[in-house]
Amino acid sequence: LDKPAQGRPQTWWQRLQPRLLDAAKAGTPRYAYHLPTVRERARELMDVAAIDRRFYALKANPHPDILRTLEAEGFGFECVSQGELDHLFGVLPTLAPDRVLFTPSFAPRREFEAALARGVFVTLDSLVPLQQWPQLFKGRDIVLRVDPGFGQGHHEKVRTGGKDAKFGLAAESVPQFAAAARATGARITGLHAHIGSGIHDARHWHTVYASLAAIAEGIGTVSFIDVGGGLGVAYDPDAAPFDLVAYGAALAELKAAYPHYALWVEPGRYLVAEAGVLLLSVTQVVDKQGQRRVGADGGMNALMRPALYGAWHEIVNLSRPDAPPGPPCEVVGPVCESSDVLGKQRRLPEATAEGDVLLVGHAGAYGAVMANRYNLRALPQEDVIDD
Ligand code: LLP
Repeated sequence: LDKPAQGRPQTWWQRLQPRLLDAAKAGTPRYAYHLPTVRERARELMDVAAIDRRFYALKANPHPDILRTLEAEGFGFECVSQGELDHLFGVLPTLAPDRVLFTPSFAPRREFEAALARGVFVTLDSLVPLQQWPQLFKGRDIVLRVDPGFGQGHHEKVRTGGKDAKFGLAAESVPQFAAAARATGARITGLHAHIGSGIHDARHWHTVYASLAAIAEGIGTVSFIDVGGGLGVAYDPDAAPFDLVAYGAALAELKAAYPHYALWVEPGRYLVAEAGVLLLSVTQVVDKQGQRRVGADGGMNALMRPALYGAWHEIVNLSRPDAPPGPPCEVVGPVCESSDVLGKQRRLPEATAEGDVLLVGHAGAYGAVMANRYNLRALPQEDVIDD
């Protein structure tokens, strides 16, 4: 059940409740992003002294204003597709290509060509591109994505390391890759690993960095080590926030052991999750055989995370913040799938009624960008708020 709100610091969306209610009048489902919160998270990461360069994984939220905000804070960008590259350079046409990483997975040749033509850092994560298209990589600097042999993260679907994951070159194949790169005339200048998302244990990055540094020693041409993103956020307002101090300390320890490598990171969720909310309107409240369901005009089409990963997001009735709670309910969307449930065992006000605005918290990462048009519903709209 949702816990009582007493004693928690006010969130940005509680402070801006009238403004959000007003925005919802223009139509729901609707995302709102609070740029000052993005800046706050960005500055926290800027203050982690062990990190040399920071790249925002824009798959989390590619909204143009978020990209501009993070660019202004000194971030580079990590892209996974040609579409993301084109979008990024469309929004920031003068961005220097050395502020961009291209980290694809099973991408077609044309996407590698496009990335190489732009002059961004290109990552390979198996031998196959080198073998299939040696002429593409001849004389190039490349980055190698390694699978250190284990995965971590908030759900099995977001773990990207270990034998069962499609990502990364197995650590034991690195010598073979290095030989193939030499034969092609490509130079491995960076090592990369991203083995999961939504991780709270700071030792994780310590382990990743240590594995990569050991591998880098054997290659000889590596100048930077990218330990990926994956920083968790506290979706539950009562849970402990991500321990950035422990994260910085874990990285600093390794940085001291391997001072000759620049340390790069590429967080997505951490920068934007908390800065975004999803606004929905109540359509119907239905009691069926002892179970109350509060229906909203957006569900798994607007926010996939609960249906896909069983993810928990806070849900409140923004129209009646202080009204007495009703019985435990499910919050459901309008999609023709039983998985279209945004929250179970929630306490919304007894008086919740058609037209009330529901707010889904921490929806700024992997929210709008994963929305879909299933059942031919419209995509959610997006607003940006800057103080
Ligand atoms: N770098 C690479 C190569 C990645 O694949 C990802 C995310 C990141 C960085 C950023 O990870 P973050 O800091 O955001 O954890 N849709 C899922 C998350 C998928 C993450 C995919 N890769 C979710 O909603 O939880």
